[in-house]
Amino acid sequence: MNKKTIWITGGSTGIGRALAIKFASKGWNVAVSARRVELLNELSNTYENIYAFPLDVTNKLKCKEVFNEIKNKFENIDICFFSTGTWNPKKEKDIDVEQIEDVFKINFFGTVNSIKAVEEYFRNKKNGIITIVSSIAGYRGLPNSTGYGPSKSALNNLAESLYFDFKRYNVRVCLVSPGFIKTPMTDKNDFKMPFLKTPEYAADQIYNGLINKNLFEIHFPKALTITLKLLSFLPSKVYFGLIGRMTKYQKK
Ligand SMILES: NC(=O)c1ccc[n+]([C@@H]2O[C@H](COP(=O)([O-])OP(=O)(O)OC[C@H]3O[C@@H](n4cnc5c(N)ncnc54)[C@H](OP(=O)(O)O)[C@@H]3O)[C@@H](O)[C@H]2O)c1
Repeated sequence: MNKKTIWITGGSTGIGRALAIKFASKGWNVAVSARRVELLNELSNTYENIYAFPLDVTNKLKCKEVFNEIKNKFENIDICFFSTGTWNPKKEKDIDVEQIEDVFKINFFGTVNSIKAVEEYFRNKKNGIITIVSSIAGYRGLPNSTGYGPSKSALNNLAESLYFDFKRYNVRVCLVSPGFIKTPMTDKNDFKMPFLKTPEYAADQIYNGLINKNLFEIHFPKALTITLKLLSFLPSKVYFGLIGRMTKYQKK
């Protein structure tokens, strides 16, 4: 097969699903992974060049097995897009240790397991892109985010660290920081989400960033991400005051 190939985890819904359809529409082979087999099969039955590879990313051995299956099928993998994530707003207000562990198991360690599965392949191949999906919630601390924000901050740091390591092998590590995108994940939110965008908008931004640009971070929508980036440079006292007011965070 001469077509280019992308492996997308978190491909059953939301941003990953929209990106799978975007790449498929551009003629790429798309290997999609997630736990819900029926959703993956629905995608692969609808789009000729989307192929289902069910996977729970918390299982590190399975991550390797599934990547081997993908390699055997397509031989050449050009981009990996690691987009699995979980967010439960109802549990983020407390220091619920089990919940925080669960969030880290998927958001952080699930991504680490996925990267580990492809590490040797990309080091030998000496080109390609490994993409880590983080969030604006990883820029700095936000109220009511005891698990999700810290897991995304950890991913930001990991992505920068891996950027150096993989650059030696001519492999690009790319960080994706979406603002609010309407997906099953954000459908749980009961607050107003500024600059809310569709998964198709996110997929266009990501496709363009991966294929037509050579940036480390792909972030969107800019009106939100640039504002948050500027806020993140402020001294803590000013940052806490402004974010507290913007999120109407109440003292107990
Ligand atoms: N939507 C936003 O506003 C927003 C903003 C910033 C960042 N993000 C990030 O973007 C990524 C995608 O989120 P989304 O909004 O598209 O949410 P979503 O629709 O809920 O997608 C999450 C995906 O992760 C998969 N997943 C969860 N746990 C998994 C596991 N253990 N193993 C394999 N797959 C697993 C889910 O599939 P199964 O349940 O079928 O396994 C699903 O495909 C996440 O990393 C999220 O943190 C989203």
